[in-house]
Amino acid sequence: MGSLKKNGGVSGAILSRIATNDQHGENSEYFDGWKSYDKDPFHFSRNPHGVIQMGLAENQLCLDLIKNWIKENPKASICTAEGVHQFSDIANFQDYHGLKEFREAIVKFMGKARGGRVTFDPERVVMSGGATGANETIMFCLADPGDVFLVPSPYYAAFDRDLRWRTGVETIPVHCYSSNNFKLTVEAVEWAYNKAQESNKKVKGLILTNPSNPLGTMLDKDTLENLVRFVTRNNIHLVVDEIYAATVFAGETFVSVAEVVNNADSSEVNVDLIHIVYSLSKDMGLPGFRVGIVYSYNDSVVSCARKMSSFGLVSSQTQLMLASMLSDDRFVENFLIESSRRLGIRHGVFTLGLKKTGITCLTSSAGLFVWMDLRHLLRDRNSFESEIELWRIIINKVKLNVSPGSSFHCTEPGWFRVCFANMDDDTLHVALQRIQDFVSKNNNKIVEKTSDSDQIIQNNNAKKQKWRQGNLRLSFRRLYEDGLSSPGIMSPHSPLLKA
Ligand SMILES: Cc1ncc(COP(=O)(O)O)c(C=O)c1O
Repeated sequence: MGSLKKNGGVSGAILSRIATNDQHGENSEYFDGWKSYDKDPFHFSRNPHGVIQMGLAENQLCLDLIKNWIKENPKASICTAEGVHQFSDIANFQDYHGLKEFREAIVKFMGKARGGRVTFDPERVVMSGGATGANETIMFCLADPGDVFLVPSPYYAAFDRDLRWRTGVETIPVHCYSSNNFKLTVEAVEWAYNKAQESNKKVKGLILTNPSNPLGTMLDKDTLENLVRFVTRNNIHLVVDEIYAATVFAGETFVSVAEVVNNADSSEVNVDLIHIVYSLSKDMGLPGFRVGIVYSYNDSVVSCARKMSSFGLVSSQTQLMLASMLSDDRFVENFLIESSRRLGIRHGVFTLGLKKTGITCLTSSAGLFVWMDLRHLLRDRNSFESEIELWRIIINKVKLNVSPGSSFHCTEPGWFRVCFANMDDDTLHVALQRIQDFVSKNNNKIVEKTSDSDQIIQNNNAKKQKWRQGNLRLSFRRLYEDGLSSPGIMSPHSPLLKA
């Protein structure tokens, strides 16, 4: 038997430039957290000391409502006795426009997810494989290799892959800072735009996530209107990824760019430049269904994106079931209210638990995560190396897989994104307990020293805070010095896909 000749491997010259470049991001050190989790995943009874996954922006809080609906509506699935009569039609359906009833139901849902203040046209709905596919498709429609999209940072880590890897599009960050709560300003966008122009870059657009991943904050109406005017003035595109539209649980009302478009003065807004990316992965907690939407106000973009959608259609079985579920008004209205109520409670429990340990987060009102401030725990407040050191301790010693701010291109070390909606209450409490235990090891020393009198404790509150931070830092330092080993197995999953 002749031997098989292996030629080249991934870096071999026989593969394409796309196949052999690193833009997919999977060789990054940020994978270590996922590897740790995969090697040693937490389970309440089977592996209670394992790593808890807090790096996954999944919404698992309302899956019971969806399961109940499926049980009560067996006709909506074609693989049931009640639904099988539609099997042949649906199994054969492959029109890239999608089922009419699906498009009608999804635009109705998109309107409701935005508080019923806007309506969408089913003829403008283009399907894709999740928002991942939608973001890539819109890049293919709007930009050529080498063209630039501006992206406010910190931003969703997988944008590096989704917007750039296969399209050849480049991104330039618009940096936002903690000094104004990471708020995006038109001035910052303008500055980045001018800088890019000065370096002879062809800027084709600006892409936002609203509500923001990883911040959980929302753009106010004025800023959004000003950004719409800005892109119109400069004749560049605005893509708004609104995948977290219905995860709002507190405070302000979410303002979709669709609202701005609907109410805009046509002399100030060129709607041909406005495009929305959406998906059911977060608002309904269905990332496995791969339901993504490109919604463009530009007819040529709709037409081109639809042709491209052949590469990433939503399965017709999924379309059929969702058409039925999403046109059930009572179910959808109850789901949206209940989902934001549960997210609000979860967020409240988690942030309060953190606060008790002296840890604060950026104030947020949406999303499936918090943006946690651990700057006071860094060995060196100005160094990203310190951030990575602290991150490795959190993974390997505290056994929580959280995501460091640098993976979101944050320019200030010490911020971490922590997901709170991908687990049950009990697991969340274990996670909080681990953080509290870790911190209280240091607090105990303070309590011993000050237990003589409550009065002394009160009088020394300021000192105590200093002590605590000092001790915490010391304790982390001890751990740094323990020498942390990086786990060795390769993850079968793409963390970026799930992030
Ligand atoms: C801002 C943003 N866009 C897109 C995606 C990808 O979503 P999907 O699962 O629908 O592809 C995510 C997932 O985390 C996200 O946070």
